[in-house]
Amino acid sequence: MAILVTGGAGYIGSHTCVELLNQNYDVVVIDNLCNSSAEALRRVQELTGKALSFYEGDVRDEALLTKIFEGNAIDCVIHFAGLKAVGESVFQPWRYYDNNLNATLVLTKVMERFGVKKLIFSSSATVYTADNEMPLKETSRTGGCTNPYGWTKYMTEQILSGLCTADKTWGAVLLRYFNPIGAHASGRIGEDPRGIPNNLMPFIAQVAVGRREKLSVFGNDYDTHDGTGVRDYIHVVDLAKGHVAAVRYAAAHTGCEAFNLGTGIGYSVLDIVSTFQKVNGIPVPYEITARRPGDIAVCYASPDKSREVLGWQAEKTLEDMCRDTWNWQKHNPQGYGE
Ligand code: NAD
Ligand code: UFG
Repeated sequence: MAILVTGGAGYIGSHTCVELLNQNYDVVVIDNLCNSSAEALRRVQELTGKALSFYEGDVRDEALLTKIFEGNAIDCVIHFAGLKAVGESVFQPWRYYDNNLNATLVLTKVMERFGVKKLIFSSSATVYTADNEMPLKETSRTGGCTNPYGWTKYMTEQILSGLCTADKTWGAVLLRYFNPIGAHASGRIGEDPRGIPNNLMPFIAQVAVGRREKLSVFGNDYDTHDGTGVRDYIHVVDLAKGHVAAVRYAAAHTGCEAFNLGTGIGYSVLDIVSTFQKVNGIPVPYEITARRPGDIAVCYASPDKSREVLGWQAEKTLEDMCRDTWNWQKHNPQGYGE
């Protein structure tokens, strides 16, 4: 069975390619490398001892997609390709809507033409409104996004849901990720953000390795056990395995279905800092600063539907996430080094 992985050179995509190859799927990747490196794919093949096909280019390029579908008997598509920086999306809304929405529109158009109607989409917990009770269930309220990035996720869910309503032979799986962190246990692939990291764990890792002086903890006056923000951190390898489960589910089902990929456990910023320091024996200097605009106090998933329907659940601990992040960062202080 052949899977087309858009954005497969990226952080989550590269880890998912490893799991797919380990399960003997044929893997075809399209990525324009706007936020990643071809070196990640070289290492995916080195780790698994298996080859994948790589097409460098943009998912919005209909001619290239046509060539890929002509040249490969694709059964299912996992669609990771997208821009993901929340803050940047506020200043570059058109770029985000163009990239993230047009990629999905062109992709599904070409899929339809080739009769490939199984799509797994990278959605996000950001589609849930801020006024929901925790834990978030797939039936919790969605919409009311506070930035263009979030709207692209929400709108793409609507596009795929509409496709499945109109044509009962379509199957779309919307995977709503919570906070992916960690790296492959080998330390060969991991998260390699460009510029100053927006997210907590890559920032901590860069402080630990000496690339940044200290972490800013955005607020300690939230209504949480230690005042800092609480999130549902999930190991990227668990997340990747969730995609393999979704591929199996999609093969047997039509219609549009959303699933949370989270652990169901919330940890605070200071929980993460102290666990990282403890398991790795390395200091992470930090200071408390003002809240970051747009942040909420607490966000964690109910993983029940994914466990019951996909037969998937996260297995790795916060210690694993902190250890594997550091193992990747210390062996690759400059990431993939490009
Ligand atoms: P990433 O930036 O590492 O990977 C995305 C990949 O897509 C990159 O390799 C990039 O080069 C590629 N890409 C972007 N636009 C493209 C286009 N038009 N054509 C071809 N390739 C293109 O990000 P990631 O963390 O691996 O995230 C993967 C997906 O998961 C994204 O859609 C993201 O929005 C979503 N997501 C991520 C998180 C997170 O915290 N990392 C949370 C929720 C959802
Ligand atoms: N934080 C800090 N300092 C930092 C970075 C983050 O204290 O330098 C705190 C934040 O305030 C928050 C927590 O660490 O309490 C996690 O922040 P992240 O930026 O790592 O993650 P978010 O939960 O804000 O956002 C993530 C993804 C988004 C996605 C969202 C909801 O980055 O793409 O989860 O799923 F939309």
